[in-house]
Amino acid sequence: MKAIAIEKYGSKEVLKEMQVEEPKANAKQVVVEVKATSVNPIDWKLREGYLQKMMDWQFPIILGWDVSGIISEIGNEVIGWKVGDRVFARPETTRFGTYAEYTIVDQSLLAKIPENISFEEAAAVPLAGLTAWQGLFNYGKLKEGETVLVHAGAGGVGTYAIQLAKSVGAKVITTASQKNHDLLFGLGADQVIDYKTDNFAELLNEIDLVLDTVGGEVQKESFKVLKQKTGRMISIVGLADEEVRKQYDVGFESIWLEPNGRELTEIANLMAAGKVKSVIGSKYPLTEKGIYEAHGLSETHHALGKIVIVSD
Ligand SMILES: NC(=O)c1ccc[n+]([C@@H]2O[C@H](COP(=O)([O-])OP(=O)(O)OC[C@H]3O[C@@H](n4cnc5c(N)ncnc54)[C@H](OP(=O)(O)O)[C@@H]3O)[C@@H](O)[C@H]2O)c1
Repeated sequence: MKAIAIEKYGSKEVLKEMQVEEPKANAKQVVVEVKATSVNPIDWKLREGYLQKMMDWQFPIILGWDVSGIISEIGNEVIGWKVGDRVFARPETTRFGTYAEYTIVDQSLLAKIPENISFEEAAAVPLAGLTAWQGLFNYGKLKEGETVLVHAGAGGVGTYAIQLAKSVGAKVITTASQKNHDLLFGLGADQVIDYKTDNFAELLNEIDLVLDTVGGEVQKESFKVLKQKTGRMISIVGLADEEVRKQYDVGFESIWLEPNGRELTEIANLMAAGKVKSVIGSKYPLTEKGIYEAHGLSETHHALGKIVIVSD
């Protein structure tokens, strides 16, 4: 089958279209014919070799960890799924990713695509949507009536986080450059701060939860706006400086997404009900050139919403 893969770490030039063996599902897995996938920052971080210590895989590595498509084969212990089902998933993090004609998914990671949602809208969701879900709810314990600060509201994780937080009745404050403010109000944000002209740490206080998607100075400054004792920060970009953290009586956790079909189904239900939608900022074909351009955009750190890759 055709895949876009890498045979060494490096810049976008190492992305190559190649023929690879079709993946084989084990007893508890399905093969999915890929209709669409998406690009996340982890794709190019892995391509560059930044994650080699965590994921020391053999080459070739097929990148991509979001899929929407149709089940084309099922393992003999798979229950509740059949060939022909429209599904989406964040597959396990293996070297057999989703920039390919077919990919493998564990049955426990699958979710049905709601009828009113396209393959493109579905492919945008799993990695970013589950990260937002787990950051806000599993770890952040966000509750109705609380105030959450979502950094980088216009990004892949941010656009889902705003909508998911609103779905439980939280007040949502987010940061974005001015050009994206109307879009984020449209997603339900109560307040949008232009991080290029205003310092959020001077404008905010008594925040219950911060979802840190930026790190560095933004993370450091975010400690200042949290409620003492009950405030908490969940970072998806890394550990806090211990010296800084010690100065505040707040909670902090750095998290890594765990793929989860049940939670993805909960997001799918919200999408079916019109409470959550994918913001697709750009689309590229599943070709060497398409992925090359999509990585280039993601690497700018200023892609709007999700970058979706459509199979031809
Ligand atoms: N731990 C995990 O499991 C996990 C999971 C998913 C993602 N991540 C990480 O989380 C980060 C965000 O992921 P993502 O997919 O949301 O990235 P993304 O879609 O590439 O984020 C791009 C957005 O970030 C905004 N942005 C850039 N700098 C900003 C700043 N200083 N303040 C506010 N907004 C800013 C941009 O908005 P403007 O155009 O308005 O500037 C742009 O819309 C990445 O580093 C990614 O690797 C971690």
